[in-house]
Amino acid sequence: MLGKTPDKVAHYTYLYPRGGPWPQPNPQRPLGEAPIVLGIPWQEQLLFGLTVGLGFSLSLTLGIPRAMLAALTSAVDKPIDDGWFSDTLTESSYSKFLTPLDGGADEKAFAPVIERWPGATFYKQDFSAIRGVKPYDGMYVAPTMVLVKEEPGQEGVQVERRKKRVVAIVVDDDLLLEPEQRDAWDRGKLFVLQGAAYGMLFTEHPNLHFPFDAINAISKSWLPQQHPIYQLLIPHLTFQLPLNVGVLASRLSVITDYRPTYYAPFTANMSDGLLDLFVAGYQGVPGRSGYPEYKFRDRPRRVFSDYGLFLMAYYEKSFLPFARAVAQVALEPEWREMTRQWAVYIAWYIDGFPGGDQILDEDTLTRVLAHITWDLSLGHAADHENFSFDVSPEQKFLRLRVKPPAGPQDEPVDMSAAVSWVDRFKMRLAHRTFFEPHVRTRLVDIDYPFTDARLGIAANGFFAELRQTEAWLREQNIRNFMPLAKVPASIQF
Ligand SMILES: [Fe+2]
Repeated sequence: MLGKTPDKVAHYTYLYPRGGPWPQPNPQRPLGEAPIVLGIPWQEQLLFGLTVGLGFSLSLTLGIPRAMLAALTSAVDKPIDDGWFSDTLTESSYSKFLTPLDGGADEKAFAPVIERWPGATFYKQDFSAIRGVKPYDGMYVAPTMVLVKEEPGQEGVQVERRKKRVVAIVVDDDLLLEPEQRDAWDRGKLFVLQGAAYGMLFTEHPNLHFPFDAINAISKSWLPQQHPIYQLLIPHLTFQLPLNVGVLASRLSVITDYRPTYYAPFTANMSDGLLDLFVAGYQGVPGRSGYPEYKFRDRPRRVFSDYGLFLMAYYEKSFLPFARAVAQVALEPEWREMTRQWAVYIAWYIDGFPGGDQILDEDTLTRVLAHITWDLSLGHAADHENFSFDVSPEQKFLRLRVKPPAGPQDEPVDMSAAVSWVDRFKMRLAHRTFFEPHVRTRLVDIDYPFTDARLGIAANGFFAELRQTEAWLREQNIRNFMPLAKVPASIQF
C-alpha cells in the first residue's frame, strides 16, 4: 500500500518535512477516549503560547477582581423558573441532548406520565452519567433524566420547530417528580441543570474536539501542501492540537486533581469521576440511548430544535457545496491515491471514518470534508457561544451544596446555601477564560491557499453561501445562534 506513496515525487513539499504530529492512544484511558496527539511541533506550541495561552494567563490574573465582584452580585437567589427551564433545555445548545424515546429500561420510571398523554410525542434528556462523580465534601451530584413532551396542535409544523416542554424529572433512576411536587421539583431542577452543564462540558462538546485531533495531525503530516484537501483544511487546523492536549494533560488545566487550582470550578477531582464522564460521551453507556457510542458521521447529528436547524443550514447550504468542489479535485488521478491513504490512516484511529475505497466515492468524500470543516469552525464555536450566553455561569450549578431531592415531598430548597461565593468566583473566572469564545482567526477572513484556480472560485462561492445562509436564517425566522462574523476558523477555545 505504502509503495504507491508520493514520497519520491520531488515537487511536493510538506508542512513538517516528514517529522509532523501523529495520533496515539490516550495514556489516561487508551480505550475510553479518542486518540491524542502528544508530540506537538514547537512552532504550534509557540504560536499557541503567544496567543491563546497568553490570553488564558491574562484572563486568570487580570480577571480576578471582576470575577470577585460578579460572585458577590450574581447569585441565583430564587428557585428556577419553570418556563425558562423548559425553554433552555429544549431550545438552547442543551437541545442537543433531546433523544427520541426507544422504549429502553432507562425510560421505565416515566411510564405513568407517558400513559397520561396517549399519542403525544416525547423525548428524553439523559444526564445520568454524572452518577460516577465523587464530589468534594459538602457538595452533591445526582443522576437525572428529564421527559420532554411536544405541545399539542403542531401537526403541520416541522419537527425541529415544535414547541416542547419538560413534564417530568427522574432522579436516581426511580424518583419521579412532576411540577406539582413543588419543592422537590425545584430542587430536582438544580440537579438537572448541573447534569446538563456537565453533559455539555464532558460528554457532548468533547466529541467536537478530540476525535478531530487524529484528522488534524494526519492531514498535516501525510498530505503534501499541494494536495487540495490539505489546502482546504489547513486554515481550520490552527491552535487545536496544543489546546486539546493542554485541556487533557497540562498541569495547569482547568480539569485537575490539584484542588488549589483557583480557577477550577468543578465539583470533583479529575480522577474522581470527571474523566469517566468523557468516557461516557465517547464509548457510550450500554442500555441508554441518550449516551450513544461516538462514531464519526459524515453529517452532523440531527438536533430536534431551531438550534439544530441553524447548525444544519450552514452544513447543507454552505459547507457541502464547497466540499464537493474540493472532493472532485481530490479524486483526480494526481491526488486520488493520497486521498485514499489519508482516509485509511484516519479510519485506523477514528471509528466510523470511511476508510479505503469508501472515500473514493465523491458523495462520501464531500460529506466528510463538509463535516470536518463545519465541525472545526461553526459546529464547535456555536456550542461555546450559546452555552456561554444563554445560561449564565451561576445557572450552570457546577457546584451544589444542597442535597438532591429525597422523595416527592421535600423541604423548600434554600438557594442561599446552594452555592458559595468561592464557587461563583471560580466559575466566573473559568467561564470567562475557557468557555466564552475568544476568536483569534475568523472563518470569513480565511485565505485558502488553493493552487487550483477552480478551487479559488469555489472558495469565493463558499463565502457568498455563508452570507446567504445567514440571510436565509433571518428570512425563516430561525434564531441566529452565532453571528457569522464571529465564527472562528478553527478550534481555538
Ligand atoms: Fe470547545
